[in-house]
This record gives sequence, structure tokens and C-alpha cells, in this order.
Amino acid sequence: MVERSLWHPVAQAGDVQQQSPVAVQLLEQAVVLWRDAEGVVRAFADQCPHRGARLSLGRVTTQGQLECPYHGWQFAASGQCTQVPALPGFVPPPGHCAQVFEAQEAHGLVWVRLVRGDAALPAFAAEGDTRLRKLNCGPYDVAASAPRIIENFLDMSHFGFVHEGWLGSRDATAIDDYRVEATPTGLLATGCKAWQPQSNLHSTAPAQVEYTYEVTAPYAAVLTKVPEAGTTAVDGWRESIALYICPVTPVHSRVWFRLAVADFESPDEKLQAFQHTIFTQDQPVLESQTPQRLPLDLRAELHTAADKASSAYRRFLRQRGITFGVC
Ligand code: FES
Ligand code: FE
Repeated sequence: MVERSLWHPVAQAGDVQQQSPVAVQLLEQAVVLWRDAEGVVRAFADQCPHRGARLSLGRVTTQGQLECPYHGWQFAASGQCTQVPALPGFVPPPGHCAQVFEAQEAHGLVWVRLVRGDAALPAFAAEGDTRLRKLNCGPYDVAASAPRIIENFLDMSHFGFVHEGWLGSRDATAIDDYRVEATPTGLLATGCKAWQPQSNLHSTAPAQVEYTYEVTAPYAAVLTKVPEAGTTAVDGWRESIALYICPVTPVHSRVWFRLAVADFESPDEKLQAFQHTIFTQDQPVLESQTPQRLPLDLRAELHTAADKASSAYRRFLRQRGITFGVC
């Protein structure tokens, strides 16, 4: 399964503290996250190789080892079992090992991949723009497949209905033609225009906002826009929102947004509250969609020219060999 070789976000980095292991789920695999003595985040299968207890119910010792809650076996950052308390003189052989996954921190999140692969973390150009302020929103636990959530993010023709009075208006529902091109990591849609009553926290009047959408990995996307005049606009600056999704099961996802904005005044909570308002408008619709897995056969649902970004996304998933969260 190609998804297993991709990096996926699994937790907010700050939620993995030095002392307490954290249980997460990725691609139906139970994973325990913890920090070793150096503070480096580690990811193991959340199943002790001795009798299968959940390692996440255990603790991290003061020596920076993960201790199983059942018989107290201890595991080093490498996964090697170092101690079996029932046999104090026993030196565990190399085969006495927890299953280790690769983990790293980026974009304020912990990322894990279940098997080795060539794919890099999804690109987020705005992350490198040191002028922009970065913050995360989420997580949101959503009873929908990751691809349905990405597709909703690329979809502008729902603005006037789901986000009426915010990102759209029933009086301006037409979608002008826009461009979509395939890229090595997904797609790029440019020239996407929307008439928005309240495009961000500071909007005081409706404005035409132009978006660029990028699919940067099968379950990741980035929206970039020039903030409307009179809000947080600074000449030549663009703001971005990255959508990062952990595919928990084929029909359950954990969602984060990473904002890269030119707003240096508003408290985090206010920026997060705006994003929260928008996403909780999407969530009930996302959770209502059937089939919950995104159909990759383009004949399974109906499409119009306004949907060409989502049609291109479905073609990309098929060509990429994605099987998790699709049908
Ligand atoms: Fe983990 Fe026995 S099940 S030490
Ligand atoms: Fe929406």
C-alpha cells in the first residue's frame, strides 16, 4: 500500500510531552508516540512484543526508555528491549524489540511513516517565508475519508451554501473558469475567484478573492491568496493555509490547518476561531457524504466544469495508486 510509505501528520508536536506516551492511529495502525531522553520524538507500534499490551498505557522512565504497563519491559529509542524486570540478570537479545516507525517534527506536527519510501514531506512554501506568522488549528476528528476532506477544500461551488455570509453568498454562486494542471505531487489550480462576504477575520465588506490551490500529497493541500485590501494586506504578500490530514481509518480522519498569515495583531484564539467556524460548517456535510470513500471511477458521481479541480484530484489519486479512503 503506497500510503504506508508516505509521511502523515499524527499529532500536534506540543501534545507529545517528555513524560507521557501518546496513543494515535494511522492507516489503522495503532502507534505510540513518546520522547526519549534527548527530547526526540519516537514512534513505535502501540503493542508490546511480549504479550501485546498497549505501550501507550505505560510511561517513559527517567532514563528516557519506554516502559510497558504490563510486566515493565523497557525499550530504548531504537526499539531494543533493555530490561525484563522478572529476570534481572537477563540480557535481551536483538530480536527482543518493539516495532519502530520513522518519525519527525515539522509544521508544528509530528509526522510518521509506516514503511520507508522516497516521498518527502508535503511542500509548504509559505513555511519558509519568515515574515509570515504561523499557527495551527485543530485537530478535528471527522467521520469522513481523507480524500473527501481534501476534495471539499478544493471545492469553491459550495461557498454560497455551506459558508453563506462568510466565504460565499447565494447571490454570487457562479464559478468563473479557472486553470488546473497536474504536478508531480498532485495538482495546481490557479485563477480561482470567489465573491466573499467575510473572507477573513478583518473583512468589513464583500470582496472578490483570488485563490491558488495546490495538492501537495495525496492527503495534503495548500490554499494561497492575496488578502483583500483593507484587511491584513501588505503589498506583495500572500497568505496560505495548509490542510494536513491523518488518515486514521478509511472513513475517519484527523485534520489540522496550518496558517501562514500576515496578521500580527489578532490573538491565536481569534484566528483559530475563524477557521473553526468555517470548518464546522463543512463538517456535517462531509460526514453526510456517501459513499464515505471517495469514488475514483469518474462515472460514479456527476461532474461539471466547476468541479474540474476535484476531477483532477481523483485522477491523481488513481494514478498515484492510492487505495485508502477511496473506492
Ligand atoms: Fe509488555 Fe509483558 S506485555 S511487558
Ligand atoms: Fe468549505
